[in-house]
Order: sequence, then C-alpha cells, then structure tokens
Amino acid sequence: MRDNLGTKKRSHYCGELNKDNLGQEVTVMGWVHKRRDLGGLIFIDLRDVKGLLQVVIRPEQTEVFAKAEKVRNEYVIAAVGKICARDQQNVNRNMETGEIELVADSFYVLNDTLPLPIQINEAALAEEDLRLTYRYLDLRRAKLQKIILTRHKIVQIIREFLNREGFYDIETPILMKSTPEGARDYLVPSRIQPGKFYALPQSPQMFKQLLMIGGFDRYYQIARCFRDEDLRADRQPEFTQLDIELSFASQEQIFDLLERLMSELFRQVLNIELSLPFPRLSYQEAMNRFGCDKPDTRFGMELKDLSQALGESSFQVFSAALQSGGVVKAIAIPQAADFSRKQQDELVELAKHLGGKGIAFAKVTEAGLDAGITKFLSETEKDSIVKLCEAKPGDLIAIAADSFEMSCKVLSGLRNHLAAQLKLIALNSYNFCWITDFPLFSRNGETGGWEPAHHMFTLPKEEHIDYLDDPARIGDIHGQLYDLVCNGMELSSGSIRCHRYDVQKKIFQVLGFEEEDLKLRFGFFLEALKYGTPPHGGIAPGLDRLVMIMTGAESIRDVIAFPKTLKATDLMSQAPSEVDAIQWKELHLKPTE
Ligand code: AMO
Repeated sequence: MRDNLGTKKRSHYCGELNKDNLGQEVTVMGWVHKRRDLGGLIFIDLRDVKGLLQVVIRPEQTEVFAKAEKVRNEYVIAAVGKICARDQQNVNRNMETGEIELVADSFYVLNDTLPLPIQINEAALAEEDLRLTYRYLDLRRAKLQKIILTRHKIVQIIREFLNREGFYDIETPILMKSTPEGARDYLVPSRIQPGKFYALPQSPQMFKQLLMIGGFDRYYQIARCFRDEDLRADRQPEFTQLDIELSFASQEQIFDLLERLMSELFRQVLNIELSLPFPRLSYQEAMNRFGCDKPDTRFGMELKDLSQALGESSFQVFSAALQSGGVVKAIAIPQAADFSRKQQDELVELAKHLGGKGIAFAKVTEAGLDAGITKFLSETEKDSIVKLCEAKPGDLIAIAADSFEMSCKVLSGLRNHLAAQLKLIALNSYNFCWITDFPLFSRNGETGGWEPAHHMFTLPKEEHIDYLDDPARIGDIHGQLYDLVCNGMELSSGSIRCHRYDVQKKIFQVLGFEEEDLKLRFGFFLEALKYGTPPHGGIAPGLDRLVMIMTGAESIRDVIAFPKTLKATDLMSQAPSEVDAIQWKELHLKPTE
C-alpha cells in the first residue's frame, strides 16, 4: 500500500515548526517514530532530520484514519494539514515542537517497512555488532543524528575559520608510495605494474611539506588517513585529520592559530568560552607530574617522587628499584583509606596488567602513616611520604617502585582509572594543554635502535642540531615537537619541520636507513628539500577525537557514520571480503599456502 504523492512537495521540516506556524497549511514527510491510538484519535510522532512533530488524525477523516490505523513504526509517510496549538494540558515540554501539532487532512504512505531488526530507541539499544550490521537504521537514532550533524557543523566552522586565515584547501593523493611512517601501511596492488604496490596515506605528511616547497604558504585539508594498527576506543584504521601546514611560521604562531580555532569551535558549538592561552607542559614535566605525555589535568592526584626520601630505605622493594636506577613514585588517592582489601587487590591487578610488579598501599590517619609496609620505614621516612604526597588523613597512598617509565605507566593508569571510579572529573569541563620539548628519538624496545619519538620530519631544537653527529648524544636531542592534549586525549600532534636537506638526511641516517634504501623510499622527498625549501611547520588535530570530546561520545565509532569494529571490519558491507580468482590473477597475486 504505497500512495502516489503526485506533485506535492514538502513545505516544512517537522522539527522546525513552531508557534509562528499556527494556522498554516503544511506538508511534512518523514518516518513514523511512534503511533498511539487514544480515545478514537490516532497520534503519530513523525520524525525527520530536524526532529519530531505530533500528527493527529481524527476519526471524522474516515479514509485518512483507516490508512493511519495501518501504519507501523518506521513507515515513511507524508502528512498534510493545519498547524494547531495543543491544549495546555497536552503541551509536551520534552519535545521541541511540544506546543503544537499537525491536524492531518490527508495522509500518504510513501513506503512501508519490514519489522526492524533493531529498535530506533535509546532505551532499547541492541548489541553493538547488530547495530553496526544495520548501521543505516542505527544512524536514525537521535543521539547519532546529533553527533553526525555536530560533526558537520564542526567541519564547516573549521573551513570558515581557516579560509578566513588565508589557508588553501588542497587535496593530496590517496594512492601513494609506501614509506615507513610509524604504523603499518594499507597496500593496494597495481594491476598495470606487476609486483608493485601503492600505499594508502598514513597521513598527508610528506605531501603537505611538498606543497610548502610548491609555494602554497598555508594549506589545510580534511584528510582521510589509513593505518593498519591495533585498534582501541579512540583509534580507527581509517580516520580523519584536520591537516594543517604553514610556511614561515613559528611554533608560537601555530599555537596561537590552534588556540583561536579551538576557542571558536567551543564558542559556536557548545557556547563555552575556553580560557586562552592553553597551559604548556614540557614532556618531562608531564611525565614527572602525571606519568604520561597526554595528561588529564581535570583532576589532581599528581605523581610524587619519593626516591630521595626513601634513598636509605631498608624495605627491599624500594631499595632494589632504586639500586637498579629506578624510582619510587606515589599518588595520594583522596578519601580512599577505607578501600577494602578487594578494592586494593583490583588496583594491584590493574598495575600488573599495565606491566608493573604491584603497588604498595599506606593509609594516612590522624596519627600518621598506617600500613603493613610502615614497619620497614623510619618515622622520618613516613613523615616525608605524607608530606611529599601532600596527603590528608583519610587518603590512601599508592606507591610504585620500578623503572621511571614503568612507575609512570602504572601510576598514570591508576590515576585515570581512579578518577573515573571516584567521579573526580567535573562534567562538561575541557582542559587543554600543550606538551612541548619532546625528545626527537627513542629506543626501540626490541631492536634497541633509534626510532622517531614522533615523526622523522621534525627539526631538532637549533642548539641540538650538532648532536646528530655524536652517537653518544642522540638521546639528548629534543625536537621542535608539540602535542595538543584535551581531557587526557592526544588531540593533535605537530612540529616545525626539517627544511634543511643535510639535517633531514642525518636524521634518516640515525634511524638506520642505508643509502640505497633511503634513496628508494625517500629519494623524491630528499631531492625536493634541495630546491629552496621554506622553513615550515604544521599540526594535525584528529577530527574524530575532536568530535568525541565535543559531543561527549565514549567511542570513536559513535562519531563516524560508517565505522569499523576493533577487528577493522565493516559489519554492514562485510569488508574486508574475499575476491574472485580473476581479481587475484589480474593483480598478479597468489594466496599463501
Ligand atoms: P599523528 O600520527 O600524531 O601525527 O596523528 C595526528 C592526530 O591524528 C589522530 N589519530 C587518530 N585518530 C583516530 N584513529 C587513529 N588510528 C589515529 N591516529 C592518529 C590523533 C593524533 O593526534 N603527520 C602528523 C601530524 C603533523 O605533524 O602535522 C601525524 O599524522 O588525534
């Protein structure tokens, strides 16, 4: 039973009608969100992209009424009629259009539906896998509609802002050369050139630098990036960056640009004034105080270093860590002295899960420190612990003795876990901070060789450039690198780039590229650096993460219209999928045995 609409056109969106439209004859179209039959009247909540509108069908309209009786949820209909005010007692304050209703004169069924495999209803959420399989239905849900439309708004504000600031929106290739850039590449076999592959870009990094060499001065792109890496709640194999690059710009100018952009976004989208400039922390300070380079600064519980105070400790766990060059660090968990044994054990388990050995606990009472380990500690040591941790009676001190890196990892993990558990984070608070002064290189845990701490196109600090020639000082080199962190999430990463051929070449050499390999992989890029490269730098906020923060979404999958699962699968279309023998052959590929 489908009706022909003839030449009838939609006159209004459901969600945009209000008291200004009283008395008007309108035509609306959308989905039946809910149908109720009450006292001889039929009420339909009609839904379109702008919201809901109540449509009333009276029994006097015999033909229309008979039709309305047959519609089910999610039928697609058009309704024509007059906008009327609802009686005072029927006003629905929970509905944007709750003061009005459409009294239908005619009614068209544009399409019916099979019974839905999932409900379009926040209160009856189906399993995520099922929702991803029927993503187009899940997308009808109000929460996802709101997020995806907010994402649209965010992108428009970004474009308007950057256009105003003199940036050019330029596209870069999706099929590019495979060049190691941190993660594993997604590869695309070439049909025309047997045995050769393109790679999908992990980011447009080299292209945006080539655009600076090409003279475009200020570039941006809402760029799709692809990385074949292990996925997490804030990672997708295919994600979007707001990619930005500027010539002749200092780190200060880039910070200022991003601060103004964030402030514009938060003002326009959330009506929140961010306080500028954002605080800055050096990498070392972030590690010392928060144990990680993406600190959540919305709550305290900062890490304190007890190594000096416990230097003479007879407690074997502490002395062993210190003697092997490690540290003893601690956090004071507010008002947690009454944590049960079970709660403490859970924290120990978490510490072990993070790779640590365990956690020592000490309660702070009015009389001082109270715990199993206190018998190994002198009075002075106990006092120092309480003082250094700035702990108050009622707090529980959690102590990790290990290498600097492991103590940081364990305590920062505990800190984030506890902040959520103890509800220490104020709702709707947004704490941005810049992390600066990163080391340029770090040691690869497996091979022991140097790898880029962030990425390999970064200019070392001017005063560290000479260290590139001294193998003993490579670890001391700091890069002109920066991250923008918000609420404990790495939102953006960027740097001032190496515009000097000689310096870039040395960096590649430190990273262990042989001359031939270097030529093969990065030859074109190194060549370009020889021809008048302007000093330049840039940054790339992850758009998906920005939308997550601004919409309060817990999963990155909620901010992407068609996301992939943690196994990098699109459950709806069933990608990746097998291809037929002809395709294998055309691409000159053979399955492995
Ligand atoms: P980086 O690799 O740090 O830097 O990425 C920049 C930002 O992109 C986001 N991001 C991701 N978002 C979702 N899923 C992923 N798998 C994922 N990986 C990264 C993060 C991150 O901060 N070319 C450099 C940028 C530059 O220096 O200009 C780059 O790609 O928000």
